[in-house]
Amino acid sequence: MDTIDLSISFRRWFCVWFSFPLSPKTLIYFNKNKTNPTSFLFISMHYPLPSSASIYSFKTQEIKGNLTINMANGRLPDHQNWPRPGLLYSEAVRELHATIENDWDSVKQSACQTAAGRALWKHVVHDPLAELFAGETYLKSLYEKIKKDRLNNAREVSGVILAVRTLWFESKLEAAVKSFGGGAQVVLLGAGMDTRAYRLDCLKESDVYEMDFPEVLQMKDTLLEAAMESINEPMLTAKSLRRIAVDIRDEDWFKKLQASGFKPEKKTVWILEGIIYYLEHSQAMGVLKTIADNCNLTETVLLADFMNKQSTTLSSSNYHFYSDWPDHLLPSLGFSDVKLSQIGDPDADYGLLHDPLNLFNKLRGLPRSIQNHPDDGTPCCRLYLVQASGSPNQTIS
Ligand SMILES: C[S@@+](CC[C@H](N)C(=O)[O-])C[C@H]1O[C@@H](n2cnc3c(N)ncnc32)[C@H](O)[C@@H]1O
Repeated sequence: MDTIDLSISFRRWFCVWFSFPLSPKTLIYFNKNKTNPTSFLFISMHYPLPSSASIYSFKTQEIKGNLTINMANGRLPDHQNWPRPGLLYSEAVRELHATIENDWDSVKQSACQTAAGRALWKHVVHDPLAELFAGETYLKSLYEKIKKDRLNNAREVSGVILAVRTLWFESKLEAAVKSFGGGAQVVLLGAGMDTRAYRLDCLKESDVYEMDFPEVLQMKDTLLEAAMESINEPMLTAKSLRRIAVDIRDEDWFKKLQASGFKPEKKTVWILEGIIYYLEHSQAMGVLKTIADNCNLTETVLLADFMNKQSTTLSSSNYHFYSDWPDHLLPSLGFSDVKLSQIGDPDADYGLLHDPLNLFNKLRGLPRSIQNHPDDGTPCCRLYLVQASGSPNQTIS
């Protein structure tokens, strides 16, 4: 069966036709629903538009594929309304962000930097709290980079990796929770300023556990309290949310998670997004092994991103752990059914990497063993997006 993956981006409204050469009276399954027999595949999309990228799967007897709909195509978001002065520039919020800039180390500050990425790529990532968590300094710094990239017609616009990574984790999280029939537990290691518990409908029946350093989680609570004064909406979407202050380099992190209500016998999605490479090799292996050893009682999905060796040189002091072969490493620890994607692959593109010569598309064409680009000798810096199952016999749908 042929597979087709399409990505399209729209600014306002859309109504699209796709036609594929099908045998007459082919049955089409669109998001698993059977449609009337037809001789061509017609997909039409109307209001309401997705607020972030949405993926629709379709299937006929002859082809299957995914249609990714975005609101914009690698463009800089509209910035007339940026940032929201009322919230961002309140004295209380400014003071809190001054503490982050003055007192936190760069590892903790990375939580605000990733929030800035989500805030500035808001035309594809729907995270209304991201500006608040990012703070003015990180927003401005990324905003200037994006502006410069646009002026220089850069092939990759700053923050695009983060946007793709966020969308990839969200689509895989949603798929995993759905495949578990709703109420799976979700654990975010190094949750930072993640706001999925507040904004993803798929978590309505889920108990969510966010783990990070005490200072980060305390600050997140305090910033949210400040936001609550301005946003008069019920905040939480998830069934429950618990924040657990830990250093995951310490051996007792899993015990602390259990003490907070986590149940190893309950279906679980683990999210290790932007965290594992901050650990030393033995610490990262320890964390992955703990998950593998304790979560094989029932269905478990691990979602994680891994840097390759060259990527860890981008920040000489912060990044340590790397793996060029996470799809070999995870099975050696007890995980199974490992699926690996690179930025720019059909399931990690979201219509944001349309230039065939951009860095990621160039890298995908090279064997993973190659460390420097044969054309110009530049380091091949890769980010692998990986999903795996925690139990030996489980396959991920
Ligand atoms: C790059 S941020 C990613 C945050 C979030 N996952 C996201 O994607 O927006 C890395 C986060 O990992 C946390 N972190 C790093 N090392 C940690 C450790 N040893 N224990 C707990 N959290 C840690 C940092 O505090 C920070 O919030």
